[in-house]
Amino acid sequence: MKKKILITGINGQDGAYLADFLLKKNFEVHGIIRRTSTYKLARLEYLKIKDKIHFHHSELNEDKNIEYIIKKIKPHAIYNLAAQSFVEYSFSNPVGTFNINYLSVLNILEFLRREKLDIKFYQASTSEMFGNTGVDMQNENTKFNPASPYAVSKLTAHYLVKNYRESFNKFFVSGILFNHESFLRGGEFVTKKIIYGLTKIKFGSKEVLKLGNLDSKRDWGHAKDYVQAMYLMTKSKKPDDYVVATGETNSIRKFIEVACSYLGLHPVFEGNGLNEFCYDKKSGKIIIKVDKKYFRVNELDRLKGDSSKIKKFLKWKIKFKFNDLVEDMVKDEVNNFQDNKKFSFFSR
Ligand code: GDD
Repeated sequence: MKKKILITGINGQDGAYLADFLLKKNFEVHGIIRRTSTYKLARLEYLKIKDKIHFHHSELNEDKNIEYIIKKIKPHAIYNLAAQSFVEYSFSNPVGTFNINYLSVLNILEFLRREKLDIKFYQASTSEMFGNTGVDMQNENTKFNPASPYAVSKLTAHYLVKNYRESFNKFFVSGILFNHESFLRGGEFVTKKIIYGLTKIKFGSKEVLKLGNLDSKRDWGHAKDYVQAMYLMTKSKKPDDYVVATGETNSIRKFIEVACSYLGLHPVFEGNGLNEFCYDKKSGKIIIKVDKKYFRVNELDRLKGDSSKIKKFLKWKIKFKFNDLVEDMVKDEVNNFQDNKKFSFFSR
């Protein structure tokens, strides 16, 4: 009999790639989706796996319903990938962010403990928990200093998972994942916004792409590599937390330059601060402008992860380095434009 897996947030970028990966490993994949998102299964359609998944409807904070689903399926493992994952939005809705990102995790863990269910639990923790650390590379021993309500909510859930693991001897793990991207990334996140916006310009749009802080730096990897790390963590003999990152950091400006190089655009940046803009040297047209609207209340300036632990103990490997990631995103976006923008992942 196939082992069953339950994924919350299965129609998100990570949920879709993880489902695809686990189906190929011959698991029976179940996914929880919100009632309102039945029509938003584009990522699963894109990967051609929608018909292979068993869907269950629930909001993550409908505690009794979630408990019912878990009891009915009795999965081998739960991957908790559903979240309010947009950092900027958490400043305007901290209560909603906390409800989804912390309280619903508490409910699931408490249910697994109370009912003595022997189910592995993977929690999507995040590099946002580090905040501005002042150290060159962040690893499992780096002090957390969260800089947004989102990061605080994720950090409390992270500690909860650790506490339950240690107190009740449970196989509960957290992956501290640094930014991970792909063509399937939601349109509100900066990499997708850049690639989509520049591809649109390449295909003739006169629109100017408006962005916030171009100096901010992130450690960007490919979501396809990162879902494999999630799997390795749940497969490992001993439950533990691991940092997952590429070990390379780049600014938003650099991301734009590399994306432009794959699109055949020639970016030149001029001006400073809020007056900065970027034009294409060949056409002379302004393609990007900095806009105050996209700056954060509090910014996390720089992230760079040290993933030696997972590489050493779980033999995790990176296939996509920074340039490979950008190239892959551009390639898929261009294909989608050529296909009349068949797939769209914009939620806001
Ligand atoms: N979204 C967005 N839009 N970000 C912009 C923009 C813009 O127009 N312009 C500049 N940025 C900067 C942000 O200020 C931030 O410093 C950086 O781009 C990355 O922003 P996001 O792509 O929104 O991602 P994030 O780093 O805040 O959070 C993502 O990664 C985390 C892992 O570290 C999300 O996926 C989180 O859910 C995840 O935990």
